[in-house]
Amino acid sequence: MPGKIRPILQTNGIITGKDQIKTIAKEPKELELKHLHSGKVRETFEVDDATLLIITTDRWSAYDVKMPQGIPLKGKILNTMSVLNFMGTEQIIQNHLITSDMTAFEKSRELKKAFENSAEFLHVLNGRSMLVKKAKPLPFEFVVRGFLYGSGLDDYNNNDGTVSGVKLPLGLVKASKLQEPIFTPATKAQVGHDENVTYEYMEKKLGSDVAATLKEKSIALYKNRAEFALEKGLILADTKFEFGYIGGELALIDEVVTPDSSRLWPRRSYKEGFDQDSCNDKQYLRDYLIKVANWGLVEIPS
Ligand SMILES: Nc1ncnc2c1ncn2[C@@H]1O[C@H](COP(=O)(O)OP(=O)(O)OP(=O)(O)O)[C@@H](O)[C@H]1O
Ligand SMILES: [Mg+2]
Repeated sequence: MPGKIRPILQTNGIITGKDQIKTIAKEPKELELKHLHSGKVRETFEVDDATLLIITTDRWSAYDVKMPQGIPLKGKILNTMSVLNFMGTEQIIQNHLITSDMTAFEKSRELKKAFENSAEFLHVLNGRSMLVKKAKPLPFEFVVRGFLYGSGLDDYNNNDGTVSGVKLPLGLVKASKLQEPIFTPATKAQVGHDENVTYEYMEKKLGSDVAATLKEKSIALYKNRAEFALEKGLILADTKFEFGYIGGELALIDEVVTPDSSRLWPRRSYKEGFDQDSCNDKQYLRDYLIKVANWGLVEIPS
């Protein structure tokens, strides 16, 4: 059914040419597979009862609004980071990744059927897609912080040095490195912004054994990836994990240590007490939208 998927290739194409890099389109509903979810960056499709296809687009967003133009290769970088981090943490906990290899996609009966006669589309998906095991996601974001920044710093300043119920030493400042990483879960809001919660709140909802396991795994994952990042010249200041049940077993799902789920700072410019350079710094886009496009004055388009 190539006709059905063609609109995906037509809209929003950024660059064609050697690598045929194109942005995945605005109209994913045209795809034969059942479209489940459109995030700010990723599109999720159902392949069958047990399998999802997650496509990372080149989109970016500001103030929760998706920008109409994408950034060439961005989706491939995010997808590749997740794949690398899933593969690097299998010894800590199992994860949902089946494959990101297009040749394997072609071997998949379901995908082959869905993309029949559409080698072009398979090519577009290559490098920016994952076939994953469908999980029952837990309704929390499992955040680990190794440095004090963002909402963690706000909590610290507003609650006498306590962040999500964890008491920290006095005298810490913006971007201070914590002696030990802290676990600060948040609710996964269906609507509106996620809200930081205490460990005890999460424990009540999930049970103490599961909560303890998730805390231990989250901290182990953070430490492992922070060490890996440092070898590459990056500080993993904080990050968010998601977990779900696959066949009754806990598994790491979603994306892992990408700039969309983490604060990553260049090691060489780190300075305690100051704003940090970020690997996902959208400040110039926000400045543009406010100063040039007058977003502060006009109604923000949805
Ligand atoms: N293996 C999986 N099984 C089931 N659901 C999953 C799996 N992996 C990820 N998810 C869920 O799929 C959804 C992916 O959404 P996505 O991250 O694209 O957008 P979002 O979380 O709604 O918003 P944002 O773009 O701000 O992250 C999340 O709700 C996530 O929990
Ligand atoms: Mg998300």
